Amino acid sequence: MTRFPLIAGNWKMFKTVAEATAYLATFRGLVAEVTGVDIVLAPPFTALHALAAAAHGTRIGVAAQDLYWEREGAYTGEVSAAMIREAGASHVIIGHSERRTLFGETDATVNRKTVAALAAGLTPIVCIGETLDQRERDETLAVLDRQISQGLDGMKADEILRLVLAYEPVWAIGTGRNATPAQAGEAHAHIRQRLREWFGAEAAERSRILYGGSVKPDNVASLLAQPDVDGGLVGGASLDPKAFAEIVARSRA
Ligand code: 13P
Repeated sequence: MTRFPLIAGNWKMFKTVAEATAYLATFRGLVAEVTGVDIVLAPPFTALHALAAAAHGTRIGVAAQDLYWEREGAYTGEVSAAMIREAGASHVIIGHSERRTLFGETDATVNRKTVAALAAGLTPIVCIGETLDQRERDETLAVLDRQISQGLDGMKADEILRLVLAYEPVWAIGTGRNATPAQAGEAHAHIRQRLREWFGAEAAERSRILYGGSVKPDNVASLLAQPDVDGGLVGGASLDPKAFAEIVARSRA
């Protein structure tokens, strides 16, 4: 079965509101003629509403980079799924390795956040992936199994169909050292096999699994040529509208 590719740009803690809207003014023209690929941009919270408003009526969707699972309350500094949705986002990144490593997120918090995102009608982009140590100890597939089984614990097949997974090997993030297409292909095939075993054939066949980690214009096509790689989650190269538009153009179905 063919899955429609999705390319998401994770801006991390880059770009002010002014920079975000200036980016969009350039980027929307660069991708105006591009079809056959879904496009999502994930700015910092502060630029979410302005970017969503500027992208309204285009094919460009907007994502938050995190959320908190409670609906509202005394949670200083946190933002709820409903607030993100109301600001105009369609997607939300959950469990990015930077959140896991720097901010103490766990598979249990990933699970709660994913449940909250789905309940609010957001599409979660759930990130999983092994560290270099884990890969060198040959634990990659076991780590992915744990992250999927605990992060998606209790989900039904119809919920799996409403989310996106992103395989981001931690050693490939921001290092310029992308996984080889074969390494990505092996991990993605394994993830899909687990989805099949745990959530059924339809969830496995229809769910999109993105690859993230040093995706650039010159490697995106070979990564997406792998049968189980359905798109990309792009960090550094998404900060430049021309480079990101080039990645989008080279990802079309
Ligand atoms: P880079 O593309 O900069 O390696 O970042 C990947 C990433 O973390 C996307 O979420």
